[in-house]
Amino acid sequence: MKALILVGGFGTRLRPLTFSCPKPCVEFCNKPIVCHQIEALAKVGVTEIVLAINYQPEMMRESIEKYAREYGVNIICSQETTPLGTAGPLALAKDILTRDNPEGSFFVLNSDIICDYPFQEMIDFHRAHGKEGTLVVFPVPDPSRYGVIVTNEANEILSFVEKPKEFISNKINAGLYLLKTSMIDRIEPKPTSIEREIFPVMAADRQLCAVTLKSFWMDIGIPKDYLAGTELYLAHLAKKNSQELIHGSKFAGNVMIDPTAEIEEGCIIGPNVCIGPNCKVKSGTRISNSVILAGTEINSHSWINGSIIGWKNKIGRWVRIEGLSVFGEDVVVKDEVFLNATIILPHKEIKDSEFAAGKIL
Ligand code: GDD
Ligand code: MG
Repeated sequence: MKALILVGGFGTRLRPLTFSCPKPCVEFCNKPIVCHQIEALAKVGVTEIVLAINYQPEMMRESIEKYAREYGVNIICSQETTPLGTAGPLALAKDILTRDNPEGSFFVLNSDIICDYPFQEMIDFHRAHGKEGTLVVFPVPDPSRYGVIVTNEANEILSFVEKPKEFISNKINAGLYLLKTSMIDRIEPKPTSIEREIFPVMAADRQLCAVTLKSFWMDIGIPKDYLAGTELYLAHLAKKNSQELIHGSKFAGNVMIDPTAEIEEGCIIGPNVCIGPNCKVKSGTRISNSVILAGTEINSHSWINGSIIGWKNKIGRWVRIEGLSVFGEDVVVKDEVFLNATIILPHKEIKDSEFAAGKIL
């Protein structure tokens, strides 16, 4: 089977991390976000994946190739010269998606979605109903930031409205589709939104059906949701008794630590913490509800809560970081600094505390 992953957005809402790395390659629980998807697609027999890219293709290829080889998947980059939106890339890749495709269908994924991907259920349902598309839906309390879907009892989609101003349903588009190749004829190879221009028409033609996701789901494209997604994913691993979680006197709750990271005695790490490769955490440090990306060093007696610390940071002693702070790559924070809800751009050195929340340094 084949799949296309939409990896072309600029990821502006995940800055400053996306200043250094395209959003799909930012690590989520120690693996590029998109590699969670590639692994799950490979498990249901997908062997060829088109990455619909419009910037930084080399970086994308480099960080994904190793995983693609491991999962036995062939990666093809389909490069846009101008951003084609969420539908245009399907038309651009039409030849690849239709060539040698006896199944006659292909997966399409938004690259920033983390869940227990229901790909086999999608395949089975798609084959059974025979319509042009199967979309995954997920119920949320506030659907206004998403595509919203109305279905009937037979799970046919009656209407699709992207980011509606008024409440119509609590079922949102989860950003995972299985589509027949014939639907590509509905799209022109120009900037087109699948959510605003294609799905509403397909719904009106009664050509879309919905699978409801039962377990967790999160679009991790903004820092708050990236951390919420980390908590959900770690809890999901805990439920499966996964070996990927670490236990011991230094750890509290669900914690994932890369084997190459060094955590000294006297630290308390957790709950809901992920620490990347080659990080060093010195004694007496307390980290909770946070993600520390590869190569970062945190000196003794610091305190980090509810924050994302980017790659290769150097955090001093007795530093306190909290309130959804997000640090870019290669940030240096001097001893005893306090930072609350602060965004720090890559390559900055911070010597003074910032008591007011919401600053960008
Ligand atoms: N190749 C390519 N070209 N990809 C693109 C482009 C483009 O011009 N623009 C956006 N993308 C990719 C993004 O990288 C992302 O993987 C996906 O398309 C969706 O874009 P987002 O920017 O993340 O959209 P959203 O989160 O506001 O809304 C979408 O996702 C929601 C679920 O999280 C929509 O599909 C909603 O309907 C949906 O509910
Ligand atoms: Mg998104």
